[in-house]
Amino acid sequence: MEVVNGFPEGFLWGAATSAYQCEGAALEDGKKENQQDVINRQIHDERGYADASVTADFYHHYKEDVALMAEMGFKSFRLSINWSRVLPDGVGEPNPKGVQFYHDLFAELHAHGIEPIVTMWHYDLPMALVEKYGGWRSRQMVDDFEYYARFLAKEYGSEVRYWLTINEQSIVVNYIDKKNLISKEDFYNPRYRYQANHYMNLAHAKAAIAIHELVPNALVGAALDCAPYYPASSAPQDVLASRHANEFKNYFYMDAYIKGTYTPSVLAYLERQGLMFDVEPGDLELIKRGSECFDFLGVNYYQSGCVKAPTPGKSRHPKENNKTGKGGHVEYEVQPDLFEGTKNEYLVDTDFSMPIDPSGLQFILEEINDRYGIPVMICENGLGAYDTLEKDGSIHDPYRIEYIRQHIKAMKAAIANGVQLWGYNPWSAMDLLSTSNGIAKRYGFIYVDRTDDDVRECRRYRKDSFYWYKNVIATNGKNLE
Ligand code: BG6
Repeated sequence: MEVVNGFPEGFLWGAATSAYQCEGAALEDGKKENQQDVINRQIHDERGYADASVTADFYHHYKEDVALMAEMGFKSFRLSINWSRVLPDGVGEPNPKGVQFYHDLFAELHAHGIEPIVTMWHYDLPMALVEKYGGWRSRQMVDDFEYYARFLAKEYGSEVRYWLTINEQSIVVNYIDKKNLISKEDFYNPRYRYQANHYMNLAHAKAAIAIHELVPNALVGAALDCAPYYPASSAPQDVLASRHANEFKNYFYMDAYIKGTYTPSVLAYLERQGLMFDVEPGDLELIKRGSECFDFLGVNYYQSGCVKAPTPGKSRHPKENNKTGKGGHVEYEVQPDLFEGTKNEYLVDTDFSMPIDPSGLQFILEEINDRYGIPVMICENGLGAYDTLEKDGSIHDPYRIEYIRQHIKAMKAAIANGVQLWGYNPWSAMDLLSTSNGIAKRYGFIYVDRTDDDVRECRRYRKDSFYWYKNVIATNGKNLE
């Protein structure tokens, strides 16, 4: 591929979303509930954030949104399929209106020259499967995920070339009680997480194989949360903790997808900690075969991490996101005998306590390339912030422009060092429902006029970043000013 202005010709400039975070229409036209409908109702009741019933109302605004994306010059748009919209019971009878929605959306995108990049599953498991057997608690998910993948391939294979099986498997594993499992059974059983992770690897492998079998020229990947974990100091114990954190948080997932193997040091740790999962005959062969169908890695990058040697006696817990949006508060991850998260004193945090670190993106992209030599696509990156809609309909978001500008510079530097980067799809095209901070935490280039309490008409407005990004795309990344 020829490199023009630092970016390859045909580079996929666009943006990303996920179904439950933008579509709304949670119970419309035959769609049944998914876990996020339930989870976000709980979040609403506990913390007052919006639920998933309307979000950005993309279901009804998609034509207007696609037109705005086209105005920005998008070449791609990352979206996910709402599983319980197309298959309300997870498997079995399809829902004709839900199926048609995505045909219409893909047609609209193609009519504007925008390539869809489709995630099969972005946190929103049909409740039917949760109620039937507890979702990822059961090995049955492997076959049901394959069923779903085959359904999607047959239905949309001629309209979609880029497929991502699972969004952020490592995040699902870390927060499995919140993002996946409704049942309180096994809530505190961390061993369950790695069993579910194993099922996801099998499900991913079956889906990747199915897509390759059914869709000629398809390109298959999965999107992972990728964050380099720096040592808090040059003390050898901290440096070792950083190595362990990178293996545990990044490479354990990448190795399975890309090499078709489990990282030895992580397996040894899980064994020592009594967290090891069961493997049945043929499982490892399936994961290996799946890796042969892995064409690109979707990189979701927001921030880097920082770790130190673990404090003896501290018990295991995942990182807790900032829930206040007022900076400061964050509870760091602890993995006993492995690493402990801590603040990076060299970085400035957002209001939602995410450290801003463009160099971390270059770091992880180069790591992935040197370790695996595989093409990558940025499938998420962005700044969640409070925005203000001015009386004249403008939204001034220089902080977002600056964040994205610095990350694009980091991408350029990574490409110059040999990284095969296919595209940039920051989070998010339009404002949508955050996983942890409602509607008030905004990421979009397109402002959606609603609040957590009042859905209004969800009118769309162009932010300053909209015009800026349009110019970036028009110059293929040359003009970042
Ligand atoms: C990613 C997820 O982890 O981060 C998205 O794939 C999510 O679904 C995004 O919205 C931003 O996180 P948050 O908590 O600010 O919505």
